[in-house]
Amino acid sequence: MTDGIHDNRALDFGQWAQQVQSATETALAQCLPAAHLPPERLHQAMRYAVLGGGKRVRALLAHAAGELCGAEKSKVTRAASAVELIHAYSLVHDDMPCMDDDDLRRGKPSCHKEFDEATALLVGDALQSLAFDVLTTPGLHSNPHQQLQMTHLLAQASGSRGMAGGQAIDLESVGLALTQEQLEFMHLRKTGALIRAAVLLGAWCSDKHTHADADNSALFATPVFSALDHYAKHIGLAFQVIDDILDSEADTATLGKTSGKDKEANKPTYVTILGVTRARALAAELHDHAVQPIVELNNAGGNIGVRLLQIADYIMQRAY
Ligand code: IPE
Ligand code: IPE
Ligand code: MG
Ligand code: MG
Ligand code: MG
Repeated sequence: MTDGIHDNRALDFGQWAQQVQSATETALAQCLPAAHLPPERLHQAMRYAVLGGGKRVRALLAHAAGELCGAEKSKVTRAASAVELIHAYSLVHDDMPCMDDDDLRRGKPSCHKEFDEATALLVGDALQSLAFDVLTTPGLHSNPHQQLQMTHLLAQASGSRGMAGGQAIDLESVGLALTQEQLEFMHLRKTGALIRAAVLLGAWCSDKHTHADADNSALFATPVFSALDHYAKHIGLAFQVIDDILDSEADTATLGKTSGKDKEANKPTYVTILGVTRARALAAELHDHAVQPIVELNNAGGNIGVRLLQIADYIMQRAY
């Protein structure tokens, strides 16, 4: 292949990431309803919440996994957009006064500040629907059954046993001293579930890994998928540990969101239960554990998981 992302292992990580980010931005801009279409205010707010910001980590993960499995770039871009839409919706709701009450997101006023609360609520609703619209549009996968499985995966990752459930636990936990096990349970859901979905959806875009029957366990039993699942679970958790650390250590201008929010809201985090130094050590441990099977795959087969390793490093080193 000569078009863009998938053939170009010579690109350094920054260049590769920029390509993915710009392909994601273009795809999102195209799938979001135009701002002039009625209801204009809702469509403007949806575009405001999704476009022109965000690190697009979930898209990077989907593409890295897709490359590893030989998936077509345009298909991965669609699957990645679906995950980024759910993620953007989760941020819009997360910032609302009834949740974290945060006025700043991605360096600009949160959606409910720029527009209003009712609009922000509807933005979340509509972005969630749009994500499934994108993911269910015929042709994302040559095997419709596999596309159904992909939709099922994103639905589970987003719902009460995934992201929304993690958010519910987050809100219930204000003022409580959670154990590390309880905190892990929450973080694996509120952040980890969508990160895992990003990785697996990217991989599932591949035609090489089609399973016509309904047996997901057969799929997970393959060495590549169990390596990806292991990676995704641990890197997703590490991602939120770092988010907790950044909330306590970084400044608002760097973060693009209000720093110190967790402490102000009396939220239990890895920083409150372990302190910054031990939280950093735990994140490093999770990172090393996450990449272990990917390193093994690499050693066995020509550097195929290099982007996943680079993203794992980026997640650890990021400043925001
Ligand atoms: C922030 O996610 C919310 C969490 C799940 C921790 P990101 O740090 O990926 O936010 P953006 O998309 O880059 O703004
Ligand atoms: C939010 O966690 C996770 C989701 C949006 C699902 P946080 O509340 O820690 O995210 P930030 O710090 O506001 O981005
Ligand atoms: Mg929150
Ligand atoms: Mg928040
Ligand atoms: Mg946070």
